[in-house]
Amino acid sequence: MTENPVTESSRSLTSGLVSALSATQTGSRASGSTGPSAAPTDGPARVVIDLDLPGATISRHLYGHFAEHLGRCIYGGFYVGEDSQIPNTRGIRDDVVEALRALQIPNLRWPGGCFADDYHWRDGIGPREERPRMVNSHWGDIVEDNSFGTHEFMDLVELLDTEAYVNGNVGSGTVAEMSDWIEYLTRADDSPMASLRRANGRDEPWTVPYFGIGNEAWGCGGNMRAEDYAALARQYSTYVRDHGGNEVTRIAAGANIDDFGWTEALMRAATNLEGRDGKAGPYQAISLHYYTMSGSWEDKGSATEFSEDEWYLTLSRAARAEELVARHSTVMDHYDPHRKVGLVFDEWGTWWNVEPGTNPGFLYQQNTVRDALVASIHFDGFHRHADRLLMANIAQTVNVLQAMILTDPDSGALVLTPTYHVFAMNAGHQDARALDAHVLLPEEIAEVDGRALPMLSASASTTGETALVSLSNLDLDQERTLVLDLRGRGVTGHTATVLTGEGSAAHNTPEQPEAVAPRPLENVRELENGGGLEITLPPHSFATVELQLGE
Ligand code: AHR
Repeated sequence: MTENPVTESSRSLTSGLVSALSATQTGSRASGSTGPSAAPTDGPARVVIDLDLPGATISRHLYGHFAEHLGRCIYGGFYVGEDSQIPNTRGIRDDVVEALRALQIPNLRWPGGCFADDYHWRDGIGPREERPRMVNSHWGDIVEDNSFGTHEFMDLVELLDTEAYVNGNVGSGTVAEMSDWIEYLTRADDSPMASLRRANGRDEPWTVPYFGIGNEAWGCGGNMRAEDYAALARQYSTYVRDHGGNEVTRIAAGANIDDFGWTEALMRAATNLEGRDGKAGPYQAISLHYYTMSGSWEDKGSATEFSEDEWYLTLSRAARAEELVARHSTVMDHYDPHRKVGLVFDEWGTWWNVEPGTNPGFLYQQNTVRDALVASIHFDGFHRHADRLLMANIAQTVNVLQAMILTDPDSGALVLTPTYHVFAMNAGHQDARALDAHVLLPEEIAEVDGRALPMLSASASTTGETALVSLSNLDLDQERTLVLDLRGRGVTGHTATVLTGEGSAAHNTPEQPEAVAPRPLENVRELENGGGLEITLPPHSFATVELQLGE
């Protein structure tokens, strides 16, 4: 886990008030590429988009997910066992699968997190009743019975129609163990591991396109120094072999927050940047972890009870994610100007104090409109850095941290969170091409936590026939009218959807599952002479506008 990214001085800087930067100051700083941009204007708020200038492809993998053996994510979340009253397929909840299929989730990372560097995959294969037990020392110090293992995970991947991102064990595992796991998963012939897989009931190899070389090696994954881990990452990656047609992208365990020295050490060690067949080596990507909270690691803040200051502090810290991507990317550019090595932001999202009365080791938290805007701000930043970002994985999919889905431990009832709806509303960005969305604001722009925080965040993409615009009104209390100034192509139709609730802390429960749910956005007016659309966003809201494009 991470050290405290939130200093006391940064807290007191913002408490009580957000300060204002002059529009000119903000405009000049926003022209850089490190954060959300907004420039001053004399007219109304505008979001200017050149529909005919598509940029980098936004990989669908930026909408990736993460499921760890932690709390009720795997057990009770995804996996209830075949004997459960809850409808399931081979123990995997049908309703969870259905909800995630609707999001078209592109990949799922498993089994950790910190758990990955304690996990020995051989304990999770073969007859369930014979599987050895282990202690999940990071998450509640509970006994894990290994009933959900490799076959169950790959079954889940197939049910979800997604792609596997398996995270291997460097901290307490061997090179041979990791090498055997990829052989077990992906080899077709009668090799020792392929034969073992067959003996356990699976004939065909699976496809595993992504493999993590340990996790948080600077912390729970072994408390290593950067150079020491970099040497191990080279070694372990070498033995994660491509078997048959399975091509693995090996992901080295990357930096914590702003540890640019860690990224540099990994880039320096990735000597074979051009690689064979144009593929970088020995690892093809490095990861980054950063969590958003309004407090400190000791007291992260409540998920549902927060002040106005905490609202803006949280959103400013969410915007920091884009700065981190830009700055790690700059370090990578020095060694890899042609961007062969991908950046994988495989843990992001909010981390709040656990819900009162729940196990502190299980990281169960509610999810409000504020979480939805944290997600939308991250995605706006991700879209702007689609040329370097290979993948991103929110932590975590079910019942842990900033989840898509919460399930009631007693009744089993399933609730979709506000964050789920942001993923759904943004699904059209997956594999579309990014469009620049220039935000022009008439007012002075607030500085929060040392960062300019425009009250409007936006991004856009196009498939050619359509464009999707995402708009977040970060203002806690004020609605926002803006002109969507659309240039370069004609627009033949539009559909607008909004996500908000009665108050910024609104959230969904089994009793009120639709308190925060997407609804048609009524306040959209077509401007004369093809001048675009005038849109009014409610306070604390996220909206998407899908445009049908003509000539
Ligand atoms: O997502 C929860 C934990 O956060 C992960 O296990 C670890 O990688 C990070 O510290």
